[in-house]
Amino acid sequence: MQQRLDNGMATIVNTMMNPPMPMEDEAIMRMQLNMNAFMLSQFLHGEQGALIATAKIVQGVPWEEAKYYAANQVADEARHVEVYHRYLTEKLGISYEIVPSLRTLLDDIVKDPRWDVTFLGMQIMVEGLALAAFGVTKLQMADEPLIQDLITRVMQDESRHVAFGVLTLNDLYAQMSSSELREREEFVIEATYLLRDRLLMEPVFERLGWDVPLWTEWAKGTPFMIGFRQMMFSKIVPNLKRLGLLTPRVRDAYAKMDLLRFEHMKDSVEEPEATPPHELVELLSQLMSGKAAESNGGLQQSAAAQ
Ligand SMILES: [Fe+2]
Ligand SMILES: [Fe+2]
Repeated sequence: MQQRLDNGMATIVNTMMNPPMPMEDEAIMRMQLNMNAFMLSQFLHGEQGALIATAKIVQGVPWEEAKYYAANQVADEARHVEVYHRYLTEKLGISYEIVPSLRTLLDDIVKDPRWDVTFLGMQIMVEGLALAAFGVTKLQMADEPLIQDLITRVMQDESRHVAFGVLTLNDLYAQMSSSELREREEFVIEATYLLRDRLLMEPVFERLGWDVPLWTEWAKGTPFMIGFRQMMFSKIVPNLKRLGLLTPRVRDAYAKMDLLRFEHMKDSVEEPEATPPHELVELLSQLMSGKAAESNGGLQQSAAAQ
């Protein structure tokens, strides 16, 4: 971190992220530490939700083989909960509560009596977003070998889980009645809004003692931050398309959120691993390395379309 600051990171943060006021080195350091703690804490809460949801899937999914697979996934999720909890308490020493939007979504997923909705919510939406978010956190904490190793291993499991979700749900939605399908469409749209809101990071600004409305407006309106939130959907969109859930109604909602540009990316059956989109990797590596930012026009332009 110190090295990045020495490389002129402050200038780049102030140019690319356009904060409400110019940021000094110390503020950047505190913001980055807290944003990482915030993201990792939400990962932990998501993993706890995944543990409970997959235990429910073992019970609810009607096929024997899917039950065996889901049982393996329960064990994976237990390891993930443990490792993120240990990292946050033993290494970072800072943690955050679950954000209300994620809590609402996890509650809906776990309580829904329809097994496919639990599946859709957890395996496609929450884990799809987690895959992209893990990739970004890896880039943001590139100089922390323990987190690199830990997230790489968790991502290997998650990419299998998402691919399993896609394969299990494949064909199901093609056979559904229009009223049943409509309920799934509404669930997908609602879940997308909730997942997007989770990334506004208000609790970070509050913890730092900064002007929360001012910084939240910044997080909502800055092209860099809009782009960052959109990138989190880069795996969800192609997976929904494969499931036949990118229906006109969902497309309409996604067009408004400028998420349709991910529809031609590879889905989890074609490519189980999630690599963050090229434009984001480039942006973050500029930001992290302290090199001059020149080619962030693409992200800014598409984000400005919001
Ligand atoms: Fe997990
Ligand atoms: Fe998982």
